Amino acid sequence: MTLPFHLGFFTSFAPDEWNGPLSSGGGAFADGRFYIDIARDLERACFDFILFEDSLAIPDAFGGSTDEYLREALVAPKHDPVPLSVAVGANTTRIGVAATMSTTYYAPFTLARVSSTVDSLLGGRFGWNMVTTSGDAVAANFGSKPLPPHDERYDRADEFVAAASALWNSWEPDAVILDHESGVYADPSKVHPVDFKGRWHQTKGPLNTVRSPQGRPVFIQAGASDRGRQFAADHAEVVVATARGIEGMKAYRTDIRRRMELAGRDPDSCKVLFLVTPIVGRTDEEAQAAYTAFMQTHRFQIDVLARLSAYTGHDLSVYDLDEPLPVIETEGSAGLLARLAQWGTGKTLRQCVIEMGFASDCIDLVGTAETIADTMVAAIDEIGGDGFLFGAPGFQPSRAHIAGLTEALVPALQRRGVVRTSYEFPTFRENLLAF
Ligand SMILES: Cc1cc2nc3c(=O)[nH]c(=O)nc-3n(C[C@H](O)[C@H](O)[C@H](O)COP(=O)(O)O)c2cc1C
Repeated sequence: MTLPFHLGFFTSFAPDEWNGPLSSGGGAFADGRFYIDIARDLERACFDFILFEDSLAIPDAFGGSTDEYLREALVAPKHDPVPLSVAVGANTTRIGVAATMSTTYYAPFTLARVSSTVDSLLGGRFGWNMVTTSGDAVAANFGSKPLPPHDERYDRADEFVAAASALWNSWEPDAVILDHESGVYADPSKVHPVDFKGRWHQTKGPLNTVRSPQGRPVFIQAGASDRGRQFAADHAEVVVATARGIEGMKAYRTDIRRRMELAGRDPDSCKVLFLVTPIVGRTDEEAQAAYTAFMQTHRFQIDVLARLSAYTGHDLSVYDLDEPLPVIETEGSAGLLARLAQWGTGKTLRQCVIEMGFASDCIDLVGTAETIADTMVAAIDEIGGDGFLFGAPGFQPSRAHIAGLTEALVPALQRRGVVRTSYEFPTFRENLLAF
């Protein structure tokens, strides 16, 4: 008997498949309606949440300029995910909505306040993708703040979470009393300054807004490095994992659960979701043909390298696609780069790019809805839990892709009794912990 598992969807607030057959035709992503539409579709299919990715600059890491990113609408243009979360939340009622925000470039007070506000506006459905941020282009946008070294970014992030959490707790749950008779709105004895004085972050508090329905957003994290995993084990309620293959997935989840136990946390209080990009076809052959054709395109191969250049801060345009990638040290996303390069195997960069497939996917899910559903169930049986985060091909969601997920794949999973058919609770965290 397979345990029920969770589903999330991952995208950025960027152009959809603007020149595809079912696209918006260009430009229309910017009003957010495309994302509202897909969130409503995902809600009908009972996804736990939609997660909006973010970055804070137009990268110039690939080829030393922003040209390729702009030409292909890679990484840019994109909007801020927080106002999008509000728009999506106002047009849905049950699905969780999560935004990416940086622990390196945002202030704890700003992040705590905006998250509390959005969680209140959404009735307790907001989540935060806790990223430490990498890339020199971002550092340049924040003037006086050069990018700290990789592990120090996580040390700062630990302190950031402590400061933000103190602010979220600065209002006790019953601080608002709304006593019409005595004319008292909030009980001052239940609203506390936090006087947080850390090495990198200082904030006096309290927050100047009320406690939100969830108290704080659901914490989501995707750090792949050793330090990143430790950060996840210390704080996260959803871990997005990018391990390769069933054994890698199982080992990743076991590692996170072991680290949580050592940190004194209940391992079941965090769900490890595996990144996948299902390609659903009417037949297995049709889906496979679409997948293969996509991998062979110049756009796809450049996409992968340009994005990785941005994540790692290392210009991957200078390497021959038909030679192995030399060993590179990076302060950026080291885990992701090692996954791409397959150092020591002698594979060419092009082979590695194709094998890496959809960025950081854990397993390939290409076929009919029935084939993919069986593969997912078998994977979860082997791994022990907890679910999947679906991405879009080439990071560009399309209505056709979403329809394949919500009209074919999820119903196939629901028929197998392994995903929810209705939301049990009003808040994101409660639904996440429901099973
Ligand atoms: C599914 C997924 C989503 C991510 N989303 C973002 C994001 O929106 N913004 C960002 O700056 N980094 C994002 N990252 C990068 C991670 O936060 C992290 O830096 C990366 O996985 C490398 O881990 P490490 O920093 O521990 O080496 C994402 C990673 C994954 C796998």
